Amino acid sequence: MPETMIKADGLVKIYKSKQTEVLALQGLDLEVEEGELTAIIGNSGSGKSTFLNMIGGLDKPSAGSLHVGGKNLFRMTEGELVRYKRDTVGFVWQNNGRNLLPYLSAIENVMLPMCLSGTHKRRAKAMELLEQVGMGAKKHSRMNMLSGGEQQRVAIAIALANSPKLLLADEPTGSVDTRTADYIFDVFTELNKGGQTVLIVTHDVALSKKVKRVVAIRDGKISSERVLKEIYADRLKESSIDWRKEDTQEEYAIVDRAGRVQIPAELLEAIGLKGNKVSVGVHDGKVVISNPQEKEAKEKEEKEHAEGKGKSK
Ligand SMILES: Nc1ncnc2c1ncn2[C@@H]1O[C@H](COP(=O)(O)OP(=O)(O)O)[C@@H](O)[C@H]1O
Ligand SMILES: [Mg+2]
Repeated sequence: MPETMIKADGLVKIYKSKQTEVLALQGLDLEVEEGELTAIIGNSGSGKSTFLNMIGGLDKPSAGSLHVGGKNLFRMTEGELVRYKRDTVGFVWQNNGRNLLPYLSAIENVMLPMCLSGTHKRRAKAMELLEQVGMGAKKHSRMNMLSGGEQQRVAIAIALANSPKLLLADEPTGSVDTRTADYIFDVFTELNKGGQTVLIVTHDVALSKKVKRVVAIRDGKISSERVLKEIYADRLKESSIDWRKEDTQEEYAIVDRAGRVQIPAELLEAIGLKGNKVSVGVHDGKVVISNPQEKEAKEKEEKEHAEGKGKSK
């Protein structure tokens, strides 16, 4: 049985300033198992980075709890949190500036975070990681001589330097072209095949369609989840497939612990809903949400029909 890697329960985050309050997370629940590669999608401002930063130990919630690798993140002492950030999670950002030193070589950059292991091991490990991300041949290149995509791959190697249980990436392909994005994404997929648990925030529709599990955040909570269809699982590298157009995933709405479901606006439009009231009932073993006006009209019609029959007898 795989272990639970991430368990988020009712996470709430309120950013307060003098003038305003922003509700960035509104009771977010999510479980991720060890060995999963999960993508998080959602509009700008929906709370993706807030959530990822919390898992990375960089931010604290206003309410709720978060366990990573069985540890309660918000019950840690300062020392435990420092160790957690160093050893349990690795972080890749869209902007590399935060993790890379421009005048050092790729291999020196990867060795930097490994300050506790011996020199010989550090170099060997850094080399191994650079090979893993396809940057072995450029190990001695200075960071400022590398392309954006290459820098991003070095950033992934750095994030892996202390063998984190969990690799987090916030829009890692956000500032590179499509081909480079594909390549970077393949690196994450390969790492995951080797057992690495990965959580990626992405805007890229084509990439998200290649992921086994995609969770969508809307207004600070998980609104729906997509799961890769079996028939696509072995075809992820096929370039003949137009991933943008293909319907590769099954989509599910998420029911939270209070029984709440978010219904996409287009579905509500499709039933011609005007106000904010819907009829909910069970018909033929299915929960049916319908437009109450429609229901009234139908009942009226049925009644008239029955009365009509009664008269004709
Ligand atoms: N440090 C902050 N102070 C105030 N508001 C913030 C801060 N960080 C994020 N927010 C707000 O919280 C909401 C969610 O932001 P974020 O998690 O960055 O969204 P996403 O990554 O999905 O684009 C947004 O409305 C954003 O403006
Ligand atoms: Mg963000």
